[in-house]
Amino acid sequence: MGKHDYGHNKPAPPSFDEANNLRQRARVAGMDPNYWYPALMSRDLAVGAVKEVIFWHRSFAFFRGQDGVVRAMENRCAHRNLKLTEGQVEGCTLRCAYHGWAYDGEGCLVDMPHNDFGKKLKIALETFPVAERYGMIFFFPGDPALSSKREIPSIPEIEGADPWAHGVLDFHWHGHHSMILDNVSDFTHGYLHRKWRPFEGDQLLGLEEGDDQVLLQYNTKIAAAKIMDVLIDRKSHAGTSHYSCYQYPYQWSNTEEFVKHWLFLRPIDERNTMVFFLFYYSDFKVPFLPLKLPRKLMTPLVRLGHEYLVRPLFNEDGWAVQKEQEGYDAHWDAPLAEVNPQVHAYQRLTVRKWEAYLESQKLNQIKRKKPARGAAKPDADAREQNSENADA
Ligand code: FES
Ligand SMILES: [Fe+2]
Repeated sequence: MGKHDYGHNKPAPPSFDEANNLRQRARVAGMDPNYWYPALMSRDLAVGAVKEVIFWHRSFAFFRGQDGVVRAMENRCAHRNLKLTEGQVEGCTLRCAYHGWAYDGEGCLVDMPHNDFGKKLKIALETFPVAERYGMIFFFPGDPALSSKREIPSIPEIEGADPWAHGVLDFHWHGHHSMILDNVSDFTHGYLHRKWRPFEGDQLLGLEEGDDQVLLQYNTKIAAAKIMDVLIDRKSHAGTSHYSCYQYPYQWSNTEEFVKHWLFLRPIDERNTMVFFLFYYSDFKVPFLPLKLPRKLMTPLVRLGHEYLVRPLFNEDGWAVQKEQEGYDAHWDAPLAEVNPQVHAYQRLTVRKWEAYLESQKLNQIKRKKPARGAAKPDADAREQNSENADA
């Protein structure tokens, strides 16, 4: 192993541009905002409530109007830039806490409850597409014009008349999103879960890298703990073929068409990520009897099991990711030591997508700077009026 600097005055980990290797780049990469991301659990935003949501350093105000509809907009009042999440919901508008300006769901200023000194301001804040699905509020933090070109993953198993039992587990983990993705498909970390044994076997049977995804096949027994034999019919679910896929920016798995999941991440910054695991199960058996549980009974059972069995298990992953983040911050220049090819493939996808996004932003900036042929230059009067409005 090579040498690295253990000094107390060591600089912070390198930025994306300064990074020297794939892991360093992956650990500071953002996620392309031009996808649908989970903002909140639906149950966590009641009618009349407002909440701040952060996506990769940027703050958004989410509120649910009296009509039950969720709206998302940039989290700043156009007046003095207070966060709108300091304010309150009135009807279907969001009112700033300072001078009481109110904005509707389109971000338009619709009320200024004080002397306007004869100035009729036309102001529209940036708003973002929102959709509620699977008990979660999703939003599109990038260019709204692209939101119809990208979709929230469809999950037919939980959408029909007889849905599989399902539930979402949400967490705030104190680590970079790339560490969470490394963790979730890397079955070499069974040691961490030696008490709960959620999987057994880490033989990687296949790895296919595409432009937008990395597909893996493992030979793994899922829910390997003996206690799970009470609920799982091991005769009909004896297979150990487990597919796991990083389908940018999401991740899913499928074990023998019996247990499946989607993982939705919302990166907050380099050291914080919101994590939403949606698990769904085709069938469980009645404990100690060779009978299938009716699906209607399964969902409450799954929700209980999630809270008392699966959440403690994932808390172990959350702990490990946080400790890995602390380790990375202290030893980001240590030599790379990684044996699982999945981890490299996942990091390549994260980095490639972030580079492509940054590149697209540069091109957009160049386009914006270049005046269209025949376009008039802004004249002095217009500039003056703009600055007057800005100071009004
Ligand atoms: S700062 Fe929001 S109304 Fe003045
Ligand atoms: Fe784990």
